[in-house]
Amino acid sequence: MASNSLTITDNRTATNYNLPIENGTIRAMDLRKIKTGPDDFGLMTYDPAFMNTASCHSKITFIDGDRGILRYRGYPIEVLAEHCTFLEVAYLLLFGDLPTSDELKTWVDEITHHTMLHETTKKFMEGFRHDAHPMAMLVSTVAALSTVYPESKKIQDPANRLLQIKRLIGKMPSIAAMSYRHSLGFPYTYPDNDLSYPENFMNMLWRMVEPKYVANPVIARALDILFILHADHEQNCSANAMRAVGSAQTDPYLSTAAAAAALAGPLHGGANEAVLVMLDEIGTKANIPAYIKKVKEGHGKLMGFGHRVYKNYDPRAKIIKWTAEKVFAVTGGNPKLDIALELERIALEDEYFVTRKLYPNVDFYSGIIYQAMGFKPEMFTVLFAIPRTAGWLAQWQEMLTDPEQKIARPRQVYTGHEVREFVPAEKRAPLLAMAR
Ligand code: SDX
Repeated sequence: MASNSLTITDNRTATNYNLPIENGTIRAMDLRKIKTGPDDFGLMTYDPAFMNTASCHSKITFIDGDRGILRYRGYPIEVLAEHCTFLEVAYLLLFGDLPTSDELKTWVDEITHHTMLHETTKKFMEGFRHDAHPMAMLVSTVAALSTVYPESKKIQDPANRLLQIKRLIGKMPSIAAMSYRHSLGFPYTYPDNDLSYPENFMNMLWRMVEPKYVANPVIARALDILFILHADHEQNCSANAMRAVGSAQTDPYLSTAAAAAALAGPLHGGANEAVLVMLDEIGTKANIPAYIKKVKEGHGKLMGFGHRVYKNYDPRAKIIKWTAEKVFAVTGGNPKLDIALELERIALEDEYFVTRKLYPNVDFYSGIIYQAMGFKPEMFTVLFAIPRTAGWLAQWQEMLTDPEQKIARPRQVYTGHEVREFVPAEKRAPLLAMAR
C-alpha cells in the first residue's frame, strides 16, 4: 500500500478506501467515491470560510505562519524590502524571476507610460460627493476602466492580458491620487514621467502650484517599502475574490474591482483605518487596560492584531516598525505610536491574546506611518490596494493559466425546508406566528 496515502473506513458500509496524499492534501473529489449505495452523491468536505481548504496550487507567495516567514517567489520579504523597488517586486510576482537591469528599465518605462487616465475618468470621479470614501471611489473607478478598455475581455490572449496588467499597475496610483484630491477639493495633478513610481504618486497627491514636484527621498523610499510589503499574501480574502471572479472569465478591471471591494472590509485591508479609529478611541496610554478588558469581554476586537495564518509575529509588522522610525525622523513623531507600542506591550503579555496567538499584523503600524505622512485614515486602504494590485494580477494570471482551474462554484449543505405545499396569500399565517 502506498505510504503516501490515507485509508478511510466507512463504518456505514464497512468499506475501506485508499486516498493518495499529495502535498499534504487529499483531493476532495476523491471523497465522492465514499458512498452508501449507487444513488448516494458521495462525501464532501464542509469547511466554512475555507479554514482548512487549499483552493489552488500556487508558486507566487509562501507563508509559514508559525515561523513568521513570508517569501515572494522564494525571496524573503526582508531581502526584497531592503534591496528592491516595488516595480521590481511587481515584476517578480508576475513573471516569477527578478528582472535584469535592462528588463527592469523596460518594465519601469512601460508602467510609467500607462499612468495617464482617460479624461472621462475625471468626469466620472467628479460625480462622487465631496465626502465619498476614497476606497469606494477606487473600486468604482477601476470597474469603470472596463468600459474604457473593452478589449480586456480577451483574457485568453497573453499579450492582451499583459497590456491590461501594465495599465492597472500604472493607473492605480493615478486613481488613488485623484480620489484623494477630490476629497480635498483640489484640482487633479497629471503624472510626471520623470519621476519614479512612488515619487510620481507623491507628485499626483501633493503637488500644488510649483512647476516641478520634488519628493522627499525618505518618504518616497518608505512608500516603496510599504508597497513591497503589501504586494501579495497568497490566498487572502481579496486574492480569493480575484480568483473567483476571474474564474468566470470576467475582465481584469471588473475582477480587480471585486478584489478591492473585498480588501475594503475592516477585517481585511480596512483594518489599518480601523486601527487609527481604535487608537483615537483609546486616547491615552492610561485608557489601554480598560479597552483591553472590553475586548476580552467580547466587545470588539483589537484591530491590527491577529491573523488567519500568522500565529507568530507578522514579519511585515517588524519592517514597518523599522520604516516608521525613518519616516518620523522626517515628519516628526506620531503621538499615536506611543499608545500603539504600549498596547502591543500589554497585549503580548496578556494570556487572552497569547493563548489565541494574536500578534500585531501588517495593519497595526502601517496606519500610524501613513498618518504621519499626511494621509487621512480613509486613504489607508487605498494605499494597500495600490501595491496589492500586482499580487491580485499575479494570482489572476496564475489561475487563468492553471489547467486544473475552472469556474469557481462551491457546493453547500442544504439545511432548509423539505418540499412544502403552496398556500394562497389569503390563507397564509403571519410570519411572526409561524416563527413561534
Ligand atoms: C489582513 O489573510 C491575509 O493574508 C490578510 C492580510 C493580507 O496581507 O492580505 O494579511 C491583510 O487582512 C491582516 C488582518 C487585518 N485584520 C485585522 O487586524 C482585524 C482584527 N483581526 C481579526 O478580525 C482576526 O484576527 C482576523 C480576521 C485577522 C483573523 O480571523 P480568524 O483567523 O478567522 O480568527 P478568529 O476570528 O476565528 O479568531 C480566533 C479567536 C477568537 O476568539 P474565540 O472565539 O476563540 O474566543 O481569536 C479572537 C477571536 O475572537 N480574535 C481576536 C482578534 N482576532 C481574533 N480577539 C481580539 N482582537 C482580535 N484582533
